[in-house]
Amino acid sequence: MAGQIPQRFIDDLLARTDVVDIVGERVKLKKTGRNHSGLCPFHQEKSPSFTVSADKQFYHCFGCGAHGNALGFLMEYDRLRFPEAVEQLAARLGLDVPREGDDDPRQQARERKRKEGVNLLELAASFFRERLKMPEGEAARAYLDKRGLSPEVVRDFGIGFAPAEWEAMRRHLGERGISEAVQIEYGLLVHREDSGRTYDRFRDRVMFPIRDIRGRTVAFGGRVLGDAKPKYLNSPETPVFHKGRELYGLYEARQANARLDRLMIVEGYMDVVALAQFGIRNAVATLGTATTEDHLSRLFRVVDEVVFCFDGDRAGRQAADRALRTALPMMIDGRQARFLFLPEGEDPDTLVRREGADAFEDRVTCASPLSEFLFELAAQGRDLARIEERERYASQVLEAIELLPEGMLKSLLLTELSRRTGVDQSSFESLMMRHANSELGGRPPADEAVPPPMAEAAPVVGEAPTADGTLGLMARALQLLVHEPGLVDRLPESDDWCAHEEADARLCREVVRLLKAGRYRSAQVLLAHFHGTPEGERLAALARREPLVPKRLRGVELDNWVAYFQRHRRQRSPQEEYDALLARSRTGERLSQEERQRLNELLMELKG
Ligand code: UTP
Ligand code: MN
Repeated sequence: MAGQIPQRFIDDLLARTDVVDIVGERVKLKKTGRNHSGLCPFHQEKSPSFTVSADKQFYHCFGCGAHGNALGFLMEYDRLRFPEAVEQLAARLGLDVPREGDDDPRQQARERKRKEGVNLLELAASFFRERLKMPEGEAARAYLDKRGLSPEVVRDFGIGFAPAEWEAMRRHLGERGISEAVQIEYGLLVHREDSGRTYDRFRDRVMFPIRDIRGRTVAFGGRVLGDAKPKYLNSPETPVFHKGRELYGLYEARQANARLDRLMIVEGYMDVVALAQFGIRNAVATLGTATTEDHLSRLFRVVDEVVFCFDGDRAGRQAADRALRTALPMMIDGRQARFLFLPEGEDPDTLVRREGADAFEDRVTCASPLSEFLFELAAQGRDLARIEERERYASQVLEAIELLPEGMLKSLLLTELSRRTGVDQSSFESLMMRHANSELGGRPPADEAVPPPMAEAAPVVGEAPTADGTLGLMARALQLLVHEPGLVDRLPESDDWCAHEEADARLCREVVRLLKAGRYRSAQVLLAHFHGTPEGERLAALARREPLVPKRLRGVELDNWVAYFQRHRRQRSPQEEYDALLARSRTGERLSQEERQRLNELLMELKG
């Protein structure tokens, strides 16, 4: 374990850092008198109440009270732990962070070793990059080109080429004074026990450097240019590389985005770089393993939302089931996970090339949130009109809910489960207590795990109580607005995004209009306005259902839906768009200036 960071080093670091630079790299600031000000990155606001003082070297938000120095800002904004924030500031100044006990010889030896490894891997990475540019890299360049990767993406990801030789790397590193033993230890050289010979591990492959969160190369993945096996060869476990912890592309994603809202977990190197090629620069890949708890805790330190991407086949479903189990215990309030299934036979690489970035983003927008996936998964292949099936359904969902940490989400999901099964929530709660108490003696068998009241409470024939389970996207947007009317400020000027004829869309337009007029800033008043009408019923139903999107993600969520609806509106045929607009104006609705103009354009287009 590393020792404490000496206080004098921290003081020195802060003295040499300007908080205005640190904040200014991440937030747009304007000089106002002696201070700088801008929109607060820690809460949503329209006029700037966030100030940074160069004199006092701190930031302060008059809106939400956020306050601190350069280190505090980095911890808060980049979600770093204290030592990481110190590392980050030190790296800017080209300093190494000292630790108490650094003069301990054992500690020194360990530190020297770590540096040796990191240097060695950097040397190897630049060797591979150089070789890609040389004549011998011709075939590899052609391969990357064939897979549609531009020189920029190749550069950003530091992709290189391992020449088709047995000892090119050994010679290269040897000339730089690196012993064979060290090369073997870090997986660049393979040592054969039987003959005692050594040779380069990576030969004739396209090389992907795997970098840690700070951008230091810790391992490599190499792909053959053709169909030889194995397709990918990875570095073995080394003192600096642990497969179950590292994520390919995390460093690059952070480099490419000043502010990351969500990260997407895909399967392969190529998926990460292909998505980046299409401007989707927030994908990371696990390295041939299932997603681990370590992976997730790493990601959740950077973002609040993680999207899992799976193949649409059976294996993909199984992987999703496993990912759900891994994610559940980590879903403290405020975090969100989504499950995206790709069409069978596609991976993100092939799909984004075929459909383009917008369509791919749409899929992400529509992917099931964990809170819904939980129910979907349990409902799969079950006939919920049958009571035994419904019992199994309930206990499967309950088992998942039990894995959640205590919090809002847990109780919301319990309420939702009781709503969907018609069983009283308290039955589930007491059942959970029983499980918790019998944990030591093992779980009760599954068929015992169903509360008796279910059989009486739930309707046996006719409608299955889960039928109304999932809300349409428009309803979800509406639900967010009902719960947080203030979100209306984020909506675009025009309401063309909800200009459909569907009932929810019509209601959404009406709600948006009222909210924009500024008279209804709370859900109660809004509901009162519609009281006694079918629309009022609908809104009340949505108001009763707490959105399962964490509070701080709701704005972004709404933005995504609006963008989604806008894209799809544009894809409607002119005739459909014309009909919809006309229908609206015929019902006496007042069209906006923009819409009337659009109607005219469409008319000309259709007539001409
Ligand atoms: P895939 O076989 O799905 O490859 O393996 P891919 O990512 O689609 O690659 P392309 O498109 O054919 O180039 C997914 C991931 O599993 C690991 C790698 O991390 C790979 O990116 N893998 C796969 C290996 O480690 N070794 C292998 O031989 C194959
Ligand atoms: Mn692929």
